[in-house]
Amino acid sequence: MHNDIPELPLNNGNRIPQLGLGVFQVDNAEDTKNAVKWALAAGYRHIDTASYYGNEQWVGEAIRESDVKREDIFVTSKLWNSVRGYDETKQAFQETLDKLGFETLDMFLIHWPAPGYAESWRAMEDLYKDGKIKNIGVSNFNQAQLEKLMETATVKPVVDQIETHPYFQEDDLHAYLETQGILHEAWSPLGGGNNNALTDPVINELAAAHDVSAAQIILRWHIQREEIVIPKSIHEARIQQNRDVFAFGLDEDEMRAISDLDAGKRVGPDPADEAWLKKSQTYASRK
Ligand code: A2P
Repeated sequence: MHNDIPELPLNNGNRIPQLGLGVFQVDNAEDTKNAVKWALAAGYRHIDTASYYGNEQWVGEAIRESDVKREDIFVTSKLWNSVRGYDETKQAFQETLDKLGFETLDMFLIHWPAPGYAESWRAMEDLYKDGKIKNIGVSNFNQAQLEKLMETATVKPVVDQIETHPYFQEDDLHAYLETQGILHEAWSPLGGGNNNALTDPVINELAAAHDVSAAQIILRWHIQREEIVIPKSIHEARIQQNRDVFAFGLDEDEMRAISDLDAGKRVGPDPADEAWLKKSQTYASRK
């Protein structure tokens, strides 16, 4: 059976593996390094970290200690909300590179649309044009915030990484991103563990019918919606299981049954909440 992780084309001609490992809330060296090494051994070639997560250095170490070549792995990191301004952004990017121990980065995202993002984007565009960052994008931008960014941008974001799971599907933003050629990347694709999509009866019925897990059903649903997914786990068996979602498919009725579960229920902050965005700029990254 065909079980390779496909790559999706980005709007600049580059490609991204559709499934990667997320390491949000993995806050110690042992768990981070194990998770990254298990993922690489299971065939993942895409790791998603952020300066805010405080684990970039361990991601870099795990990659160096693995058998997989650096150039064969797509690594994403993100600019934290407290960093705004042209020079400040360039400096923070260099700190990310130094922590990872890399010469270049595959993708760098503005983590949230906290005020001042236009100037940070300008710095990222220059780093992109200089070849230091291969792809630039955003995270947690709604349509209005993307439109605002594109008023001054000269390079279009390649992705928008947004909260998406069966109880929070973001159909309107998905459709808008499609019109713009910006890929939809789903964070907390399983609902972050705090959300009961994994125990949902509809999901579990489909899991039984396909003889796979509830997590695999949810990830497969994202894959068929042409989203990039970055499920997080620190457990080897789950990391292997989450990558094993390319040898079965959901039919139209099954896809619709999951689409019907949308409840507009977020597990994270709302990007339109300006008070939260401002407050987040006082949060130190979890270094
Ligand atoms: P753990 O790291 O203990 O495995 P998301 O990526 O949607 O934020 O979800 C991550 C949450 O789901 C984490 O709590 C993770 O816990 C858990 N998780 C990841 N993969 C699976 C799986 N295959 N089955 C059950 N829970 C999972």
